[in-house]
Amino acid sequence: MWWTALLLFQLGDIPEKNPFTSEADLTHGKKLYNGRCAGCHGPTGEGGKGANLAVPQLPRAAEDRSLYRVIRAGIPDTEMPGSLMDTKEIWQLAAYVRSLGRVQQTAVAGDAAKGAGVFRGKGCIGCHTIGVDGGRSGPSLTAVGSRRNGAYLKEKVENPAGSIPEKFRVVEISTKDGKKVNGQLLNEDTFSIQIRDGADRFHSVWREDILAVSMEHRTPMPAYKGKLSASELDDVVAYMLTLRGDQ
Ligand code: HEC
Ligand code: HEC
Repeated sequence: MWWTALLLFQLGDIPEKNPFTSEADLTHGKKLYNGRCAGCHGPTGEGGKGANLAVPQLPRAAEDRSLYRVIRAGIPDTEMPGSLMDTKEIWQLAAYVRSLGRVQQTAVAGDAAKGAGVFRGKGCIGCHTIGVDGGRSGPSLTAVGSRRNGAYLKEKVENPAGSIPEKFRVVEISTKDGKKVNGQLLNEDTFSIQIRDGADRFHSVWREDILAVSMEHRTPMPAYKGKLSASELDDVVAYMLTLRGDQ
């Protein structure tokens, strides 16, 4: 197919190693990053609305070429946008993004083994799966340690409302026949709304059956500030950092 040839040609066109990694490139890359990326990825790449970039290995951009492509084309069906910068600027950004990954992770004081106990004892497991174990009203945390750094995790547990994903919605529906369903928005279209309730049950409701619906950008995750001791907090963060998707 002509387009396969084109794709191969374009791939061949991207050098395997970043050709722009001098001090001057990094400085310019940092400037571009602060202007265009920091709003979502955080000023030091710690993540927020965007993924954590301050990790040694980026799952979607392990090689220089894949990093280049992610920055140029974005990631379809996510909030990660493509960009119209020229080739050199994309490489300079890539160089800076790599430097964020080399920054030492915030040292964590906690004890991961104790943290596993906190995770169960304080009810986190009721809403989050690790591997196959756990509740499903919150996202799986099986690989959270490869996506997020310690500072982000600590902040998330203390004050979850401070970093709710852009698309996350809590939905409450009252139907014309007097039923109520509430849960997390999975999908909606012109005719129906799909949600998952706190007991991990899936509901699809026809719009014509709906009396009232409210959608709120808030999180059902409780804030644990003051509910965990400082050492429990450190422990549970240390535990989450060990969760890298391989168990
Ligand atoms: C509107 C928010 C937003 C902006 C602006 C944004 N990103 Fe992203 N980015 C995201 C999100 C969300 C993801 C995670 C997508 C996913 O995998 O679900 C992401 C993913 C990435 C990844 C892949 C990370 C991984 O885990 O492999 C890289 C690299 C990246 N962004 C770099 C950048 C750079 C460089 C810029 C600036 C040019 C930028 N992003 C601007 C939201 C954003
Ligand atoms: C009542 C359910 C519930 C409980 C209990 C709960 N969470 Fe959550 N959690 C959620 C939901 C829903 C989200 C997704 C929305 C958001 O980010 O706020 C979430 C998000 C998270 C995230 C962000 C994941 C990511 O990829 O960024 C982390 C980390 C987290 N929870 C850890 C914990 C820990 C640790 C505990 C226990 C101390 C806990 N949660 C207790 C429901 C819960």
